[in-house]
Amino acid sequence: MILKGTKTEKNLMNSYLGEVSGKILYGIFSEQAKKEKYHEISKKLNKLANEELAHSLIFKKCLVENNINFQEPTIDTAELKKMCKSTYENLTMASSGEYKAYEVIYPEYEKVALEEGFVEIAKIYSNLGKVELIHGELLEKLSKEII
Ligand SMILES: [Fe+2]
Ligand SMILES: [Fe+2]
Repeated sequence: MILKGTKTEKNLMNSYLGEVSGKILYGIFSEQAKKEKYHEISKKLNKLANEELAHSLIFKKCLVENNINFQEPTIDTAELKKMCKSTYENLTMASSGEYKAYEVIYPEYEKVALEEGFVEIAKIYSNLGKVELIHGELLEKLSKEII
């Protein structure tokens, strides 16, 4: 199967971008939590940031192994910083983002990958989707701890 020029190639790149942005955003949210003296939440957000980094590397590996000339996308960290509100708001926003990945985005990318014959990539979407669900549930639980 040739990945270049497929919808799955675009989806992998979008996924990479989303995971890297997630990594940076959770780092920013972790700092914010620390400022608000939610030290445990801050630690958990840092752990999630590392998991998003690991996810991003899985997508990058898919692209590179399929002979895509991978170029690191530019990420507007200033824009991401603007998304940082109070820790409570950050947690609820992050949790809905995770649920959206689990319910909408990754299932769609999984479906497209199957249609295009990329069975292994489809499996990655299915597996990572389940991890995002766990993230969503954890973030929701943390948000409830602080109200
Ligand atoms: Fe992720
Ligand atoms: Fe996640």
